[in-house]
Amino acid sequence: NVEREVQLSNNGIADKMEEENLSALVLFGSQTGTAEDFAYRFSTEAKSKYKLANTTEDLENLDFTDLDKLDSSKLLVFFLATYGEGEPTDNAEQFLELIESEDTIFSSGKGTEDRPLANLRYVIFGLGNHTYEHYNAMAKRVDSALNALGAKSVAPVGLGDDAAGLLEESYLQWKDEAFPEIAKAYQLEEVHEDYKPLYDVIEKPEISNESPTVFLGEPSRQQLKGMTSQAPNSPANPFHSTPSHSRELFNNDTRNCLHMELDITGSNMKYQTGDYVSICPMNPSQAVDDLLDILGLKDKRNMVVIVKPFNPMDKLPILSPTTYDSVFRYYYEICGIISRQLIFLIAPFAPTEEAKKELTKLGSDKDYFKTNVVDMHLNLAQVLRRVSSGVPYTKVPLSLLLENLGHLKPRYYSISSSSLAYPNKVHVTAVVDKKEWVDQNHIFYGLTTNYLLAHCRHQHGEPAPHPNGLQYSLEGPRKKLTGKIPLFIKRSTFRLAPPEVPIIMVGPGTGIAPFRGFVMERAHLAAQGVQVAKTVLFYGCRRSDTDFLYKEEWDTYAKSLKDSFELHTAFSREGDQKVYVQHRLLQQSALVNELINAGACFYICGDAEHMAKDVTNALATILATVKEDGAKRIKSLRDENRFFEDTW
Ligand code: 2AM
Repeated sequence: NVEREVQLSNNGIADKMEEENLSALVLFGSQTGTAEDFAYRFSTEAKSKYKLANTTEDLENLDFTDLDKLDSSKLLVFFLATYGEGEPTDNAEQFLELIESEDTIFSSGKGTEDRPLANLRYVIFGLGNHTYEHYNAMAKRVDSALNALGAKSVAPVGLGDDAAGLLEESYLQWKDEAFPEIAKAYQLEEVHEDYKPLYDVIEKPEISNESPTVFLGEPSRQQLKGMTSQAPNSPANPFHSTPSHSRELFNNDTRNCLHMELDITGSNMKYQTGDYVSICPMNPSQAVDDLLDILGLKDKRNMVVIVKPFNPMDKLPILSPTTYDSVFRYYYEICGIISRQLIFLIAPFAPTEEAKKELTKLGSDKDYFKTNVVDMHLNLAQVLRRVSSGVPYTKVPLSLLLENLGHLKPRYYSISSSSLAYPNKVHVTAVVDKKEWVDQNHIFYGLTTNYLLAHCRHQHGEPAPHPNGLQYSLEGPRKKLTGKIPLFIKRSTFRLAPPEVPIIMVGPGTGIAPFRGFVMERAHLAAQGVQVAKTVLFYGCRRSDTDFLYKEEWDTYAKSLKDSFELHTAFSREGDQKVYVQHRLLQQSALVNELINAGACFYICGDAEHMAKDVTNALATILATVKEDGAKRIKSLRDENRFFEDTW
């Protein structure tokens, strides 16, 4: 959702680098914006620390067919996220296809030679998750394809691991190794000088914050002008949906779970059963207040500011003009765990010597940072406040935050309805995320689920005070959007098999979401007289009387599906011993074997760390035969597109 101010006269990569006098290009293959944020951070550090003339660009915006024109004085830096089952992000698809294709002819016509890219130098940082089978597949594929074309990597490929919040540390470790290698290869000197901001932030008290040109959360210039989106497809281009029929599926002292129905009538968006909906949240008022307060900006919160890059070739990090309040409410991630690098960069601007010392220690000692910040899920304002005992940080340049904070990203949820049954509504099923450290008097609230909860309460005429103490300004950027949720549909590869194919689904907890859609769809088809194959669901939760999701609905579906539907439940906290879905699966070994032999598809959705592994192991045990082990059979199922996993 960053507006690009610099228009390219030509998007051939070699021409662009020549024209703009660039030594390096930082390219990103990003789906939700995480890889993009890292790319910008890397680019900024390369500029300030090594004076490496570079810019950042979306892979999708460039033509790579003249890659062979680049010589070894140029460097390409890739930030590449891996998606789903080892797939590239949408914006990286074409690039991957080009470099992996056997008959790519690069523009100087040397494509048929052995090593058309022999002069090309690059480095890669991948964003993946080790709990997935295709860990960092995209980074590895690009590395080996470029290598095969003769290009050389200047530093080892970075394998960023998003599991258990490790991504930030894996990035820092990689860049600390990669920068010296790059410096060596390009004879760059590390410069030690004081921080120089990339962006000028100019206060404009003479402009009213109600002026129609001021961005107050609008995701793009088009939407500021009041144009509604014709084909919503990205955070810059969402549809503003009205929730209807929201309710809390359960609500007890410690947890609650939401069911939201989001209307997409008139949006031109179509979804398929199994797709995701990406929700674009905003930050809660308390978090915005806390940050403005500790930065000493609270009295100026509605001041209009214009952001301008000092170097006209640099891109704007934010839509401008805007206000201090909007910067932090709508455009940046301020509620998540703050990055160690930013804490280190802020240290010189701390208001007291003590705070400076402590921030420097947090910023440079990764174990100390983990115990005191990561494990406690502290955000920027919380760290700053603790360290200075509330003394405001009036000297922190806003540019430093604009350069280093992540942009507010959409979060995606498996749609829990069937597109046949509800073509104009997407249903979301989400446990409201909250973590409490009682002895420390500290609570971490998941951003988007609490944002949805606030909408749900608003809809039922139960506005603030939110029982969690969290309030969102649901008026949105302009009052006409009150109560609306910006969203768009994201395609998935988690697809329901045709009705004649039997299916086995395993989805404990909110892992049930896509399977409610699957069962609903098959029930809908059955009600229309379509013959539906065996549809078996394994569902687990804590107790049948507390968190059994959609308990009353399953009977309705069973009425349409008759004998073809089977629901096997595992209630983990009802007996003396834990009973999990994999135990039920093992009890149904004969059925599972019979269905798999009859061509069934197998689906798992939910927790990646433990559940998905345990279920896969149970399946391997069930499928093992005298001649072949179970893991091999699962591998063949994957190859035949009959084994699907959607885990987090
Ligand atoms: P528990 O919290 O009682 O341990 C949904 O979260 C359900 O999944 C809960 O009943 C939870 O049980 C259960 N669960 C926890 N760990 C699991 C695992 N490794 N495999 C399968 N289910 C698990």
